[in-house]
Amino acid sequence: MLKRKLGPSVTFFPQPTTLVSSVDGQGTSNLMTASWVGIVSKTPPTIGLSLNHSRKTYANIKATQSFVINMVPASLAVEADYCGLRSGREDEKASVTGLTLESASLVEAPLVAESPLSVECRLISEIPLGEYSLLLGEIVEIHACEEAFKDDGRMDALAFDPLVYLGGIREYWSLGEKKAQAYRDGKKFFKP
Ligand SMILES: Cc1cc2nc3c(=O)[nH]c(=O)nc-3n(C[C@H](O)[C@H](O)[C@H](O)COP(=O)(O)O)c2cc1C
Repeated sequence: MLKRKLGPSVTFFPQPTTLVSSVDGQGTSNLMTASWVGIVSKTPPTIGLSLNHSRKTYANIKATQSFVINMVPASLAVEADYCGLRSGREDEKASVTGLTLESASLVEAPLVAESPLSVECRLISEIPLGEYSLLLGEIVEIHACEEAFKDDGRMDALAFDPLVYLGGIREYWSLGEKKAQAYRDGKKFFKP
């Protein structure tokens, strides 16, 4: 495969499209789009979120030590994009987009009701990275939409319909088709 060097940059995909919900010390909630998000530990369950220090969301999380990562379904691509274009300092993004905020179970930050998968996190650590910080959140609860559960209890990916972000070319895509079963189909290369 002939390749072109892109130099030290941040082009990498796929990335998740998420809405981070947070609340400030006065009780005002905010939504922000984030794609630099991912699970970083299973024991304890931990999620990493990288935020520029200028974000209102960063100030909110520092103030209340909590945040919620809401998976964005493909049907909300335009709403999510808006939440990545404006700051909560200028706008009440939930009411502009019509998204509904509801109380979480264990943390102060709210859930997005229209998200099929919301992860409640408590801030446990911050790793400064220049203009950004990697915030580590302990996952304390997860809310998964009921419709996604099949009769055998397994979850159906298409019911979540996660919006995929291609960082570097700035495009949102949805999932295509299932290609393989993880932790199983690769075993065909095991030696007998
Ligand atoms: C697709 C997309 C992904 C983004 N991901 C991040 C991210 O991971 N971290 C970050 O600091 N900003 C990210 N942003 C930018 C913020 O969403 C944007 O600056 C937003 O206005 C900040 O809102 P706030 O000031 O209300 O927190 C992203 C924007 C878009 C459109």
